[in-house]
Amino acid sequence: MAFSSTSVLFVLLFCLTSAKQPKYPVILVPGDGGSQLFAKLDRPTVPHFYCSQKTAEYYNIWLDLEELAPVPIDCFVDNMKLRYNRTTHTSHNAEGVDIRIDSFGETQTVEWLDPDRLSHDVPSLAYFYTLVEMLVAHNYTRNVNIKGAPYDFRRAPNELGDFYKNLTRLIEDTYVENGNSPMVMVAHSMGNPVMLYFYNHMPLAWKNKYIRAHIALAGVWAGAVKPIRLMTSGDSLGVIVVSPLTVRPEQRAMPSTAWLMPSTRLWNSSEVLVITEHRNYTVSDYQQLFKDINYTDGFMLWQDTKDLIIDLQAPQVEVHGVHGYGLPTPGVLKFKSGGFPDTYPDTIPDDGDGTVNIRSLEAFLGWEAKQKAPVKHLVLKGAEHMAILKDPRTLDYVLNFLFGGGR
Ligand SMILES: *[C@@H]1O[C@H](CO)[C@@H](O)[C@H](O)[C@H]1NC(C)=O
Ligand SMILES: *[C@@H]1O[C@H](CO)[C@@H](O)[C@H](O)[C@H]1NC(C)=O
Ligand SMILES: *[C@@H]1O[C@H](CO)[C@@H](O)[C@H](O)[C@H]1NC(C)=O
Ligand SMILES: *[C@@H]1O[C@H](CO)[C@@H](O)[C@H](O)[C@H]1NC(C)=O
Ligand SMILES: *[C@@H]1O[C@H](CO)[C@@H](O)[C@H](O)[C@H]1NC(C)=O
Ligand SMILES: *[C@@H]1O[C@H](CO)[C@@H](O)[C@H](O)[C@H]1NC(C)=O
Repeated sequence: MAFSSTSVLFVLLFCLTSAKQPKYPVILVPGDGGSQLFAKLDRPTVPHFYCSQKTAEYYNIWLDLEELAPVPIDCFVDNMKLRYNRTTHTSHNAEGVDIRIDSFGETQTVEWLDPDRLSHDVPSLAYFYTLVEMLVAHNYTRNVNIKGAPYDFRRAPNELGDFYKNLTRLIEDTYVENGNSPMVMVAHSMGNPVMLYFYNHMPLAWKNKYIRAHIALAGVWAGAVKPIRLMTSGDSLGVIVVSPLTVRPEQRAMPSTAWLMPSTRLWNSSEVLVITEHRNYTVSDYQQLFKDINYTDGFMLWQDTKDLIIDLQAPQVEVHGVHGYGLPTPGVLKFKSGGFPDTYPDTIPDDGDGTVNIRSLEAFLGWEAKQKAPVKHLVLKGAEHMAILKDPRTLDYVLNFLFGGGR
């Protein structure tokens, strides 16, 4: 009986990676929606009699599937929705709502979307869990040399100052706890531009000391067309069936949604992004778009955030960009006659990973010429935006970097 090529590969990988102790601590940085958030309420008013006005303790507001059931979802939306102050250009929670990150640094905050153990039978709710389990099987220990860096993903980097402070301390502490070993950062989706902003603001000597490499999974470096759908019709969140219009007020009010709209750096004024009966919109028409959907706060949110990483300045850390391609990804949103903006648009597909357009996934490649630290690229045919976190090709690559080439 002959060995299959898979088992030969397995033996090779095993020899490369076995019987070794972890050298680099790993810190996981989630994407949009990938951090658990906890809320405490003491509200003067609520939208419906069935919404809780006051809670004794913090409860899990993101993500709890029960909160997204048809009746409580209006309560959820009102509690999660940020309010924008046009004078100070800052966003704040509704009066009487406190939303916080719990257990910063612990992996459980980013392993599952819904921390309720019962929901762990729903495999689609696993987030960094598969990667963490693989590392644990290779002698990594949760919260010792593998950690999580959750943040309030509703916000863009201009409002993540406390997160960046915590992250800096987490990295410095983890370095010391692990015998002065630099980190390997593993970020997903929006976690990548969030980290780029961080690298752009940290001194080179600090990065050289503390960061061994950054592994970018499905990085949305320069926006994507999909967030325009959150702004216009609303989006059904993907996880379960919710009405886009119901969740739209919350999605629109997230500064991160505005920040992740297609960047003027990669899209130009001759490319139509939104087609409607009366007019079409390109990256040059955002002001008009927000006016026409009657959400002018959105244009201010976009102006506040559009330049945060517009130049895609090289991070000056070693980067491994891993992303999928070959999947139909929203390229242009096409609204039916009379259906703008309140009905779900059709999409004219672009190449990408199902969520992020290929040009944005690849936008880091320019750094090869702009920094000394290596820039590596791994493209995975058909690796979907979320599924890439569990893709065996991703897991092998990470493992091989940590125990093979990266040593
Ligand atoms: C984990 O560490 C033990 C003890 O040093 C070693 O025998 C084992 O091979 C390691 N396992 C892996 C998968 O590296
Ligand atoms: C916005 O912030 C300013 C300055 O803190 C404050 O005076 C004003 O009342 C706020 N506006 C709203 C609508 O909350
Ligand atoms: C920062 O860390 C502190 C202490 O662990 C925690 O109380 C706080 O919620 C964290 N804030 C953010 C934004 O991560
Ligand atoms: C706009 O982008 C398209 C597609 O990338 C390109 O073909 C076209 O030449 C660009 N137009 C301008 C004016 O830069
Ligand atoms: C919008 O763009 C589509 C496709 O490019 C084009 O067929 C249509 O004429 C445009 N509509 C307007 C109002 O410009
Ligand atoms: C626009 O929004 C405001 C406030 O949300 C609302 O009062 C108004 O009726 C809306 N106008 C249209 C034309 O939808």
